Amino acid sequence: MLNVALPKGRLGEQVYEMFEAAGFSCPDIRENNRKLIFENPEASLRFFLVKPSDVAIYVERGAADVGVAGKDILQEYRPEIYELLDLGIGSCRMAVAAPAHFRDDEGSALRVATKYPNVARDFYAARGRDIDVIRLNGSIEIAPILGLSDVIVDIVETGTTLRENHLAVVEEILPVSARLIANKAAFRFKAERIEALCAALGRLVKDKECRSYDGRKCRMRKYSPETNRFLT
Ligand code: PRP
Repeated sequence: MLNVALPKGRLGEQVYEMFEAAGFSCPDIRENNRKLIFENPEASLRFFLVKPSDVAIYVERGAADVGVAGKDILQEYRPEIYELLDLGIGSCRMAVAAPAHFRDDEGSALRVATKYPNVARDFYAARGRDIDVIRLNGSIEIAPILGLSDVIVDIVETGTTLRENHLAVVEEILPVSARLIANKAAFRFKAERIEALCAALGRLVKDKECRSYDGRKCRMRKYSPETNRFLT
């Protein structure tokens, strides 16, 4: 049985569609109910729906063999898992944002509100800037408006939330997208199954890249999970 942790919500729906197209399906998941576990015994496949930020925990601890998590979560929690494939969906970016009038006063610690304290600390440590992290759980954009922080470190997708709260991106930190991840032990013991899944999803990702070139010669990109970078 292959146990798959999927993020609940819209990203999860997109991810499931990719799994289905890759031949890893479980039709019950499309039922509109509150169930969180779905099984396809013939295909020896089980899906769990969990909070997006919890997927990596299920995978790291072996409750799921594989899962799909955002690069933002992986960068923040650095779970002991294998990152196998960039699925090319759920794309957004992690950025520093601030009100338009913001000027950094290097004389005092920069107050940074965020759901991603480790990412923020690493980013500013690399440039030797002293910061005071204010950890929040949501609606981060409010913090600088109310004077709780100077800047925020958060995910920007369409930019609408920033614009509507009169904030703007100051610096980009990291591009973010959904990644296929695997439990380290499962990757050994269920290698064949996980490699088949990874290869099938990889083909879909490449097809999608090709289609997005719209008739022009498509460029296949080779991905290295070890370095988490495209090689070509
Ligand atoms: C995320 C993120 C931003 C917003 C960015 O919040 O924290 O607030 O989406 O999206 P946009 O650029 O398309 O406007 P989420 O919706 O997860 O809610 P939260 O504030 O509770 O974290």
